[in-house]
Amino acid sequence: MVATVERAALGAARCGRRVAPATRHSAFYGNLRPQLYRLIESETVDPVRNPYAPGAGQRPPELAGRDRELKQFEIVLERVARGRPERSMIITGLRGVGKTVLLNSFRSMAIQRLWGTGKIEARPDQSIRRPIASALHMAVRELAPRHRAPDRIEGFLGVLKAFAQAGPEEDAKGRARVHRWQPGIDVPAARGRADSGDLEIDLTELLSDAASVATDVGVGIALFVDEMQDIPADDVSALCAACHELSQSGGPLIVVGAGLPHLPAVLSASKSYSERLFRYARIDRLDRESADVALLAPAEREEVTFTPEALDALYSAADGYPYFVQAYAKVVWDVAPDSPITVDDIKVAAPEAESELAVGFFGSRYERATPAERDYMRAMAALGDDPVPTSAVADELGRKPSSLSPARDGLIKKGLIYSAERGLVAFTVPHFGRFLRAQPV
Ligand SMILES: Nc1ncnc2c1ncn2[C@@H]1O[C@H](COP(=O)(O)OP(=O)(O)OP(=O)(O)O)[C@@H](O)[C@H]1O
Ligand SMILES: [Mg+2]
Repeated sequence: MVATVERAALGAARCGRRVAPATRHSAFYGNLRPQLYRLIESETVDPVRNPYAPGAGQRPPELAGRDRELKQFEIVLERVARGRPERSMIITGLRGVGKTVLLNSFRSMAIQRLWGTGKIEARPDQSIRRPIASALHMAVRELAPRHRAPDRIEGFLGVLKAFAQAGPEEDAKGRARVHRWQPGIDVPAARGRADSGDLEIDLTELLSDAASVATDVGVGIALFVDEMQDIPADDVSALCAACHELSQSGGPLIVVGAGLPHLPAVLSASKSYSERLFRYARIDRLDRESADVALLAPAEREEVTFTPEALDALYSAADGYPYFVQAYAKVVWDVAPDSPITVDDIKVAAPEAESELAVGFFGSRYERATPAERDYMRAMAALGDDPVPTSAVADELGRKPSSLSPARDGLIKKGLIYSAERGLVAFTVPHFGRFLRAQPV
């Protein structure tokens, strides 16, 4: 132990740092250090304190480069709260750019303002009726303790229960639902409101009742919908219609969505007025400055830093994509013996980071495709990284375009490719073409 502490002091002295005074935490880590030191031969860049977080929807240690979107949402919340006409927000972007994380940050902002909030993750072939009911249930439960008239809440819950139970007893594929939904609502279902079975009518009535409960409490309700492009077509149309109705009445309820880059096209195919209903914010790779902030801010909180050359190398490896930034940084931190982290550490870490990405980020998605879909994607990859015409993919495969429709539609449904413009397809996953080109045929 003494030797370990001495080595820590030595390491810290080498990079000009103080040794922090002992705390309960440092004592805990201190106990782990002898084992860890043997494994990684380092303790100044301590793996236990590795701050980076590659994962789906995983909150990053520093939400970099999204100030504009956060500010915009702040304005949306403020305007809705004041009863001003306001379009809601839809975030779009490729896989791993941070849509879910941003949606969760928006939700935290609404919660801080004491709004009621709920969230759903849309799934292909699943009606939104019951997920929306659960999310609204949660939102109103947050408001209930502040409401002065319990019977208003009970009245709403009765409507909510009726809404949830008014759906078809079959799912979108015609399979019978085995279980009736148990909403955990103690009040009897109301009759004659939000229970017609027509989702557009029912949703319009339900959202307007929810907005009126929020008005009583002097706040709003925000419903967050992740993977919004997966909502079945009829349900998207019902949701847009209900939001449209609500925007005309000025009720303080907003639906905030996130999805792949073709989401605006999905919405406008369903209702032509959707462009006026939502403000679209496309989020993308982080610029150099933001990517550096994403790396440096969490490291510096742990008294670790990077050399400028290491930052250059990391930017060129991760290309500014937030998931890649986290994935590379996580491995680099674990292999780095000392602070500052250098370009040599990046060189050592890169193969491991790349193989983790190949398995976890790219491989897991590739596995979901059928053999015909894989051929389709390989042909796309052979044509380059920009959106490609479907006719060119057909030429590449020596097939008729119409014979490839099932593969293309299957890939769109699985969220692996998207078509933002008629006749063009592109990968939803950044660097996917590069990954496929590197695979043996
Ligand atoms: N602004 C940011 N700064 C730093 N890291 C970020 C940022 N946004 C997201 N990340 C990180 O990127 C990763 C992916 O984020 P997230 O899951 O939100 O992406 P997504 O766009 O929802 O992806 P998908 O389309 O696959 O659902 C997470 O590990 C997260 O911590
Ligand atoms: Mg997501």
